[in-house]
Amino acid sequence: MMQLFSASQWGGARMTLMAGAVALLVAGCGQQAGEEAAASDAPVPAAVTERQEGYKALGASFKIINDQLKTDAPDLTAIVPAAERMNALAGQIPTWFPAGTGPQDGVKTDALATVWTDPEGFAAAQARLADATTRLQELAMAGDVAGLREHVRVVGASCGGCHDNYRVEQ
Ligand code: HEC
Repeated sequence: MMQLFSASQWGGARMTLMAGAVALLVAGCGQQAGEEAAASDAPVPAAVTERQEGYKALGASFKIINDQLKTDAPDLTAIVPAAERMNALAGQIPTWFPAGTGPQDGVKTDALATVWTDPEGFAAAQARLADATTRLQELAMAGDVAGLREHVRVVGASCGGCHDNYRVEQ
């Protein structure tokens, strides 16, 4: 009687199929491990370090201003340069997020992919901060301490407004 496959031929074919499936599985795991390594071990692009330094400087200047405003006699010689620095940094934010520096690129960053998928919303959040720091600088230069005490809340809200949508929850 004719058989299409002898038992040993069929066994061989099955072995080949199984070996193929194992190879696919191994290839799949290898790729996944490679992607994870890219997210954690890949060198962080300079733009990411620079923007994080920029935000740290923004936060440090804001702290100087808030600390002074809590005192009975806020020192305007400390507040004015800090407000100027904040306003300058706020204006630079649009240059801090070049293509290829988001989590969607395997980069380790606290920025969310929404920075790149919702550029209009991100630009609006940046403009809100820039408007607030422009006013902050005006109030500082005018020596309007009462006005500054009110306005720092507006500035703080504009930081949070962007973080809520474009930064990893802290
Ligand atoms: C237009 C959006 C936006 C605005 C406005 C904004 N931030 Fe951020 N901030 C971010 C994003 C995005 C990150 C994450 C950056 C990264 O990890 O690549 C961040 C990170 C930070 C960090 C952490 C930096 C680090 O890695 O050490 C600080 C501090 C910070 N912001 C402070 C502020 C303060 C203070 C304000 C307001 C005066 C502010 N930010 C306004 C988007 C914004």
